Amino acid sequence: MSTDVCALHDIPDGGGFEAAPSVLLLRRGAQAWAYRNVCPHFSIPLNYEPGAFWTYEGALLMCAHHSAMFRFEDGVCVDGPCLGASLRRIPIRVEHGRVVIEDADLT
Ligand code: FES
Repeated sequence: MSTDVCALHDIPDGGGFEAAPSVLLLRRGAQAWAYRNVCPHFSIPLNYEPGAFWTYEGALLMCAHHSAMFRFEDGVCVDGPCLGASLRRIPIRVEHGRVVIEDADLT
């Protein structure tokens, strides 16, 4: 089952957006990615304040706890305490300006 979660433009360009509990969306221009909002370092949310995600140059997401840096496009940690670990990807598609999560259990 697919779930329409938001408009592409609800996600800040170069930033992050919490679309559903524990679902993080990232966007750069017309591209978007979705991940579980769980840092592989300590298995806790990547943000500290609700809905606030730290990003760098529209390319990297930084965990608010110990500064691990994850690439938008594949969720791989490229710097920090969990180097080489990955965020858990959620398959999405962008359709008519809407972000649709495919086959997701959003609980
Ligand atoms: S919990 Fe994310 S870097 Fe430590």
